[in-house]
Amino acid sequence: MTDGLLVNRRRVLEIGIAASAMALVPPSRLVAEPPPLVERKIPSSGESVPVIGIGTARRYAAITTDAERAPLTAVLRRFAELGGEVIDTAPSYGTAEAVVGDSVAELGIRDALFLATKVGASGQTAGREQIEQSFRRLRTRVMDLIAVHNLRDTDTQLRTLRELKHAGRTRYVGITTSFARQYAELEQTMRRERLDFIQVDYALDHREASARILPLAADRGTAAMINLPFGRGRLFKAVQGRELPPWAAEIDCVSWAQFFLKYVVSHAAVTCCIPGTSKMEHLFDNLGAARGRLPGASMRRRMEAFIDTL
Ligand SMILES: NC(=O)c1ccc[n+]([C@@H]2O[C@H](COP(=O)([O-])OP(=O)(O)OC[C@H]3O[C@@H](n4cnc5c(N)ncnc54)[C@H](OP(=O)(O)O)[C@@H]3O)[C@@H](O)[C@H]2O)c1
Repeated sequence: MTDGLLVNRRRVLEIGIAASAMALVPPSRLVAEPPPLVERKIPSSGESVPVIGIGTARRYAAITTDAERAPLTAVLRRFAELGGEVIDTAPSYGTAEAVVGDSVAELGIRDALFLATKVGASGQTAGREQIEQSFRRLRTRVMDLIAVHNLRDTDTQLRTLRELKHAGRTRYVGITTSFARQYAELEQTMRRERLDFIQVDYALDHREASARILPLAADRGTAAMINLPFGRGRLFKAVQGRELPPWAAEIDCVSWAQFFLKYVVSHAAVTCCIPGTSKMEHLFDNLGAARGRLPGASMRRRMEAFIDTL
């Protein structure tokens, strides 16, 4: 949601989907629309977001032509049509903010999305300049979330972000890391500050954040957005050449990606997860992790034991 308009993101989307579905899909197919995505509440507001979003590091980072941008725009379009909302980007991801901003503007889907970016600068002036650049690149007047990237100059940047929140220019503020060596500082900042969001790395084979960070997020009423759910390519490499275990069907997994993502989003403190997604087949696959059954405690232990023996 953006710009102070009394517009519900989902409602806008439903209207859009209904219109395009009526126009393009034969009536027999309408009943086959996939079920809605599982959602979680952002503790500081009670607003819900789907548990699977999109991360834009790397594949969105070096786009120089419209032809290169077109497949990413198509992924973002389908993402929104299927009920996806959260898109994570950052000023340090090369062209990613501009790719998202240009695509979203072209598609007219800003109000259907939850746009999260970051500030990764030292000093108040540099931080403010970078944030203004993000507003221009993402082509929005209101950001859904701005987080301090990798805890860089946290106190200074959080002061600016709080001003922006007060002024209605960002709806939420937060901090991010993907480095275990920063967890102690992350934890201290979470205890000291009232944060809407943290973003942290957590994956089936890399579970350190569940020891202290995720329980603390739950205690503090802070939403947890998860980065690196596949450890970039690491988890796919670990299972290369292996079939999914038959018991993965008990949690409605039809792919390794869904197996890895369902583990992440079934943690009670996790609000959403942002797998890097640039290909249409990966989009469909990943959104499948936000549908059907999620693992409970004993299934989660079974998944951990499985990956730990590889
Ligand atoms: N400190 C921070 O704030 C921080 C740090 C790291 C990451 N992040 C955020 O977190 C996001 C996620 O991290 P990431 O993108 O680096 O790593 P990731 O999500 O763990 O893995 C992305 C990789 O998985 C592949 N993939 C995606 N879906 C797949 C599927 N269904 N089947 C097979 N392969 C699949 C992607 O392939 P393709 O590229 O071929 O689609 C890409 O190579 C980033 O994009 C970024 O937005 C933030």
